[in-house]
Amino acid sequence: MIQITFLTNQNLTVSAAEGANLLRTSLREKGGIPFKCGGGLCGTCKCLIELGVEHTDAIKPKEKKHLTEEEIASGYRMACQTFVHGDIHVSWKPRPTTLAAKV
Ligand code: FES
Repeated sequence: MIQITFLTNQNLTVSAAEGANLLRTSLREKGGIPFKCGGGLCGTCKCLIELGVEHTDAIKPKEKKHLTEEEIASGYRMACQTFVHGDIHVSWKPRPTTLAAKV
């Protein structure tokens, strides 16, 4: 088993199977990574692997449509396209959904 820590969700740490998909694990464990399509199209699930980026699999072509070279070099990934093979810490930009709903 591996451990995924959701930094933006009060450091929630969960166990997952080696090779688990990051977004699916977030959904199952209520990790909180934002998403819409789940299929690499919308870009909503952009997140930053702050620790353990070497434990994630190769960047997919779909991710390159949403991430700049600089972002990829800094550890950004699309959670729905990312499979995890070791412990990682992940953060993301919280979406101001409640704020938008009030406007
Ligand atoms: S949820 Fe749409 S790109 Fe990942």
